[in-house]
Amino acid sequence: MDKIVIEGGERLVGEVTVSGSKNATLPIFASSLLAEGEIRFHGVPDLRDVKTICQVLKNLGVKIGQDQRGTYLLDGTQLLGHEAPYNLVKTMRASILVLGPLVARAKRAFISLPGGCAIGARPVNLHLKGLQKLGAEIQLRHGYIEAKTKGLRGANIYLDVPTVTGTENLMMAAALAKGETVIENCAAEPEVLELAKVLNKMGAKISGAGSNIIRIRGVKRLTATEHSVIPDRIEAGTFMIAAGVTKGNIHIRNCNLDHMEAVANKLREAGMEILPEDDGARAIGNKRVKSVDIKTLPYPGFPTDMQAQIMVLMTLAKGLSVISETIFENRFIHVSELKRMGADIKVERNSAIINGVKGLSGAPVMATDLRASASLVLAGLAAEGKTEVSRVYHLDRGYEKLEEKLASLGAHIRRVKA
Ligand code: EPU
Repeated sequence: MDKIVIEGGERLVGEVTVSGSKNATLPIFASSLLAEGEIRFHGVPDLRDVKTICQVLKNLGVKIGQDQRGTYLLDGTQLLGHEAPYNLVKTMRASILVLGPLVARAKRAFISLPGGCAIGARPVNLHLKGLQKLGAEIQLRHGYIEAKTKGLRGANIYLDVPTVTGTENLMMAAALAKGETVIENCAAEPEVLELAKVLNKMGAKISGAGSNIIRIRGVKRLTATEHSVIPDRIEAGTFMIAAGVTKGNIHIRNCNLDHMEAVANKLREAGMEILPEDDGARAIGNKRVKSVDIKTLPYPGFPTDMQAQIMVLMTLAKGLSVISETIFENRFIHVSELKRMGADIKVERNSAIINGVKGLSGAPVMATDLRASASLVLAGLAAEGKTEVSRVYHLDRGYEKLEEKLASLGAHIRRVKA
């Protein structure tokens, strides 16, 4: 297995371009199951998760073509199957995103039930309850979700928690249901809004996306469209922290600060400068930051996907900070590895109490989750000496060419092939 090797201590300076958003790409790719005709998506990141969703879709009959620069052509005019098998769903839980569109278009779906993962149990009960409200019959058998319907009908759905992929699944299903659907307490993440924009371009009638109530007037058919993927706000945030932990100055291109207010404001509160630029943002971290408290929340709150990365910054801050994780029950996998690098962190229930230290020291580390792995790379950039991050396949799921981008900013970082 590949490793990332970092000689820490370099100040990162220069320009970097953020790739298209992983968590926007996955649902808009799944939406190809709903449309007749060839859809064109631009700015698609080259990631393992994107390859996995392509495999899931190809299995269902979607024709997929690609050019070199991140443009994908997806044609789901003729669906041939309705199954997402265990071997694919187990490698990527977001494969569940095909459930809603399949039930709506093919009137049946047979999807492996995603299990828990390193960060939590991650149930999909709200996806299933919502689909039942829309008129799907659902049974769980032999580890699979079997869903069928004679035709979906609009309904009022209240989500107990604002689930991101749950909202996306239900919005896609409701787009082809008969009548009006209202989803209350839904997720307001920019990626949900992005999916609604794509569906509306295909002919759907969706309003309210980006707020906590979405209204969908079902239509009979959806057709082809063309769309460019929004920048990845988590990748952009990761570069901001890279500037913070190395006391660097990074011009982050293709970054939408409007999607990142919670992160940018926390970094400013800690003493970093986060400035708008014409094509993105600039992150400057020229002094030791001060500690701030952080609580992860659904959007527009502080994203759980940035919790591990900002923790690295806090390990190097002046003073004591408390980071509370309220979205996933087990998302502190990085803590024990950061402690091996010299961080002073204590975990009590869902809070990490971090006593800032003056420096970290390089060590061999690994993590079993994407964002935790990114945090270890950040720690390695700041640490004195050599850090080796193994299980790099987690990073490859969600960061495009991370080591190349960091090296272009002056980091001493390389991938060692297995
Ligand atoms: N939940 C339920 N029941 C459900 C669905 C969710 O109780 O049916 C709970 C979860 O257990 C969790 C909370 O609701 O406590 C929120 O989970 P959510 O469903 O919103 O997460 P998700 O849709 O599975 C997406 C992102 C994650 C990101 C979370 C939270 C995609 C493909 N994935 O997951 O991204 O952490 O929202 O913002 O959009 C990542 O990119 O590293 C990643 C994990």
